[in-house]
Formats: sequence, C-alpha cells, structure tokens
Amino acid sequence: MARKKVSVIGAGNVGATCAHWIATRELADVVLVDIVEGLPQGKALDLMESAPVMKFDLSITGSNTYEATAGSDVVVITAGVPRRKDPVTGKYPSRDELVKTNQKIVGEVARNVAQHSPNAILIIVSNPLDAMCHVALQESGFPSARVIGQAGALDTARYKAFIAMELGISVRDVHGIVLGGHGDQMVPLPRHTSIAGIPVRELMAEDTLQAIIQRTRKGGGEIVGLIGVSAWYAPAAGTVEMVEAIIRDQKRIIPSAVLLNGEYGYNDLYIGVPAVLGENGVEKVIEMELNEEEKGMLQISAEAVKSVVDILGY
Ligand code: NAI
Ligand code: 2OP
Repeated sequence: MARKKVSVIGAGNVGATCAHWIATRELADVVLVDIVEGLPQGKALDLMESAPVMKFDLSITGSNTYEATAGSDVVVITAGVPRRKDPVTGKYPSRDELVKTNQKIVGEVARNVAQHSPNAILIIVSNPLDAMCHVALQESGFPSARVIGQAGALDTARYKAFIAMELGISVRDVHGIVLGGHGDQMVPLPRHTSIAGIPVRELMAEDTLQAIIQRTRKGGGEIVGLIGVSAWYAPAAGTVEMVEAIIRDQKRIIPSAVLLNGEYGYNDLYIGVPAVLGENGVEKVIEMELNEEEKGMLQISAEAVKSVVDILGY
C-alpha cells in the first residue's frame, strides 16, 4: 500500500515539531513548506539525519513551493505570525490582533493547497484559530468536513495535565474535555471530568478546580509569558493526535473546531466541540447535553469567536 502523505505548511516551531512527531510515529511521508528559503529544506534534512537513530523509515522533504505537496492526504496549516513581543513597544499582540495578518497568509496557503491537493483534509493551527478555519474554508472551497481546526486537543491536554500535576496522578487516568473557541472564554467542563471514572469534584476542592480552569483558559499566555513566544510542543502534540486519527481512520472523538450547522444551536460558525475524526475528516459532531450554565459559557465563547470572524469581512 502506498504510504500516506502529510504536508505541513509553515516550518516554524509548531510546524517543525508536527513533522518531528509525525515521523517518530511513522504516520506518513512529510513535506514541509515555508516561505523562508532553506528553512524547510534544512529542518527536513535534519529530521532525516535523525532517522537512523530514531528508527523511523519514511521521507521528509522541504520546499518553498507547493509542487512537492501534490496529492497530500492531510495538510496541516501552521503558517502565520505567532504571538511575539513587539521589539519597539514591548507588548504582546492578542490572538485577535493577529487576525488580519494571518487571514492574508492562511488565505494564500489554502488556495495553493487546494490547487495541488484537491482531496486533502486540512487541519488549521494558525491563530486566531477559529477565524482562520473560516478563511481556509472560504479560500479552499473544500467541504467543511475537510476543514478542521486544532485547538480543543491542545486546550484539553493542558486541562488534563494541570489536573494530573495537582493530584499527583498519571495523566493517563484523567478524562475531560474543553469546548468553545480557542480564547480566554473557552469552556472546560468539570461536570464531565473524571479520574479513572471518579468525578473530579470527589478528589479536588472546588477552588483548586476553578483555579485549574482559569489556568487552562490562559494556558497559551502562560507560555508566552515564560518564553516570550507562543508554545509549540503541546500544540504540535494536539495537532498530531488529529493527524493520526485521520491517517489511521481511528474514529477518535477529539474536541476540534468544526463548522456547526445547527448543532449546539449555532450556524455557520467554527467552534470547538467533540468530533469523530476519521479518514473522511469530521465524520460526526457529538452533541453533548449541557446544563444552562455550560450553555451560557459556550454562548459567551461563541460570541467572542463571532466578533473575530466578523473582522474577516466574508
Ligand atoms: P513560527 O513563527 O515559529 O512559524 C510560522 C512559520 O510560518 C514561519 O516559519 C514563517 O516563515 C511561516 N510562514 C509565514 N507566512 C507563510 C506563508 N505565506 N507560507 C508559508 N509559510 C509561511 O510560529 P509558530 O509558533 O509555529 O506558530 C504558527 C501559528 O500557529 C501562529 O499563528 C500561532 O499563533 C499558531 N498557534 C496556534 C495554536 C493552536 O492551538 N491553534 C497553538 C500554537 C500556535
Ligand atoms: C496557544 O494556546 C498561542 O494558541 C496558542 O499556546
């Protein structure tokens, strides 16, 4: 059987780390693309030189054009500008301030990808995430089942990591989910969080749990504050979890930004909800039963996403 092919557009921190983990899991051949000459070629070569030690047996190449991406099964879009301190003002732009810059970049990338890989499934990572999914959908012309955003996988991973760290137990036994947009109004769901089946509230005081929820909501900013630039290991891990679900047709339920068509009461809006991911992309949206408080939080998050989507001008 021919090997699968995953292209990663943007060979920066998140993109290169995605390529690294796709390779170590032997999911597919990888093509890295970036506008910076030498960067994707150099990172691809460096990864290939690690193969004899890491024992993965696949091809990783780099390019500044899209010809090498032709016929990709999955394309991950990380091209864009991350949150980085302005050297003049010393301030960090918010995710939303990146909207116009990244709309232009993601739009151009999506058109190129659609031309060379008309059957690919797109995983969008560039921020502001939910709005960039609208850009990729619009500019690729793909059906929404094949344009998916990565945020919930990361936000849920952070939430679970904080719970495991607090309780001093294995992350493997933490189950939970974070819904909503990829912003400070995201919606961690403590009512649906358990430790090996035990409701989290039986093991953790409410104020500790609420502190973890707040930390999750600001998880991106916490890393920016420490490093001066946004995270890449956990974002790439979340992205590769989605790539694997699609490439291996795993039918995993992964919180993903998907275009809602009536689910949860929203229309024509990308927002993070549990989705079954398989070889066809989004194969099903799972509608959870939310209580009034959870619905209210989801609405606040959806309104925040909508306010950014409106800036796009579609
Ligand atoms: P980075 O700056 O390390 O890499 C971005 C790369 O995109 C650069 O190498 C740049 O040359 C390239 N690029 C820019 N314009 C391009 C174009 N037109 N075509 C091809 N490549 C182009 O940034 P990093 O840390 O990898 O983040 C990438 C994006 O992902 C940012 O928008 C960031 O905010 C976002 N992000 C999203 C997360 C999520 O959970 N959805 C988590 C972490 C980052
Ligand atoms: C994060 O949450 C910046 O979206 C990026 O780390």
